[in-house]
Amino acid sequence: MKICCIGAGYVGGPTMAVIAFKAPDIQVTVVDMNAVRIAEWNSDTLPIYEPGLDEVVKQARGRNLFFSTDVKGAIAAADIIFVSVNTPTKTYGVGSGRAADLRFIESVARTIAEVATTPKIIVEKSTIPVKTAETIQNILAANTLGVTFQVLSNPEFLAEGTAVQDLFNPDRVLIGGERTPEGEQAVATLAGVYARWVPRERILTTNLWSSELSKLVANAFLAQRISSINAISALCEATGADVDEVANAIGKDSRIGPKFLKASVGFGGSCFQKDILNLSYLCESFGLPEVSAYWAGVVKMNDYQKQRFSAKIVRSLFNTVADKRIAVLGFAFKKDTDDTRESAAINVVRDLLAEQANVVVYDPKVTAEEINLDVLGKGHANPRLTVATSAVEASRGAHAIAIVTEWDEFKTLDYAKIFEGMHKPAFIFDGRNILDLAKLRAIGFRAFGIGK
Ligand code: NAD
Ligand code: UGA
Repeated sequence: MKICCIGAGYVGGPTMAVIAFKAPDIQVTVVDMNAVRIAEWNSDTLPIYEPGLDEVVKQARGRNLFFSTDVKGAIAAADIIFVSVNTPTKTYGVGSGRAADLRFIESVARTIAEVATTPKIIVEKSTIPVKTAETIQNILAANTLGVTFQVLSNPEFLAEGTAVQDLFNPDRVLIGGERTPEGEQAVATLAGVYARWVPRERILTTNLWSSELSKLVANAFLAQRISSINAISALCEATGADVDEVANAIGKDSRIGPKFLKASVGFGGSCFQKDILNLSYLCESFGLPEVSAYWAGVVKMNDYQKQRFSAKIVRSLFNTVADKRIAVLGFAFKKDTDDTRESAAINVVRDLLAEQANVVVYDPKVTAEEINLDVLGKGHANPRLTVATSAVEASRGAHAIAIVTEWDEFKTLDYAKIFEGMHKPAFIFDGRNILDLAKLRAIGFRAFGIGK
């Protein structure tokens, strides 16, 4: 069996590496039009940072895992084609700022229709609006050789930072297909790939539309939990309740559960905001404005939380941060990844720069180029924004420290020593609630957390 995956990003790369690792008899080729990315997948420095990924790639690469820019060749040779291209929020035209931009999906479907000479199973791995399979089927019907295609939906539930672990041991694998004999056959073929390492009872099969919609709904429910606890964090700050204590108390109720209740500076990442906006837009398109507004509220709450954090810094530093040095620790949208897409850090740094602070950022995995690009945009510079090579360096001479990403190394810094080198009064704002505020206050810090 030959598998091809179009899109060598945060999903395509790790997902295919794990399939190849677990199924040595299947030849897996990952293709991308980005030649630099493919060269990196073929080098010792992979294009993405993900714990455990190097080992998996090293084991399988060159054996049955290949990375290539030959998109058409890989399509022609494959029995199963995973489509794992990006589906960002549209930035133009109808639905701008809300709808999913499906131009990359459409372009891939056209290429498959053009190149395929043998029957193929096309697997939607990207997150897409419900009914996208219909669009793909319509485009594939343009194939002039009368080749038959089965389109399946197989959304990916991995989280960055734990991708390898999530792929090795998924809560479930979801496969949606047409309820026809050919559709059922295609579903069974794909299920057979995952069954090499995933217990059968965790492989769920549904109709196409349930599978497509379940992905957006899963992300919406996860993000909703964060916005819910973050909304309560604001109330905690106003009342003297401690949000971690509240989260612990409600999470003990087995109907609520303890996970995804960590109050924070706001959720980031390439998917939650994009997918909820997409869900909200879909609801509106189907004539359901109330449902649309309900889900849009989750994103609105998140915007409020990000802005609330930087506003609190300014207010606490006597209503002005102008010319003050603020150390921002962490820039990635969560720990154990180098991904900065939609990271709350971008908003926090921009807000502080707008107040004319001198911002020094440190992140263990994100490069200075990426930080400048994300905050200022291509070709722009601002002397107030600098990047340090350690947390200690960033904090030296600072008036305040803001922790934005929960990297483990920030939990064990020598804060007493750091305090000595800072302007007094020295402030610390823990946007991830990873530090013991009482200990920091004993050192002399004016310490604040989220919801406490
Ligand atoms: P990404 O931007 O990291 O990777 C997408 C890749 O597709 C890019 O390298 C791009 O060059 C390539 N590409 C685009 N059009 C192409 C074409 N026509 N031919 C060849 N290559 C093409 O994106 P990602 O984070 O891997 O996400 C991909 C999809 O998976 C999205 O729909 C996303 O919502 C979904 N998803 C992402 C995650 C995550 O944690 N990042 C998790 C689950 C699902
Ligand atoms: C999320 C989902 O968890 C995955 O299941 C899904 O596949 C993926 O989106 C996707 O579709 O892309 P990801 O965005 O990689 O994964 O990372 P998460 O662990 O979900 O974290 C998202 C954001 O929420 C991060 O900024 C994180 O710090 C924040 N978060 C998470 C909190 O603020 N509090 C929490 O309790 C949990």
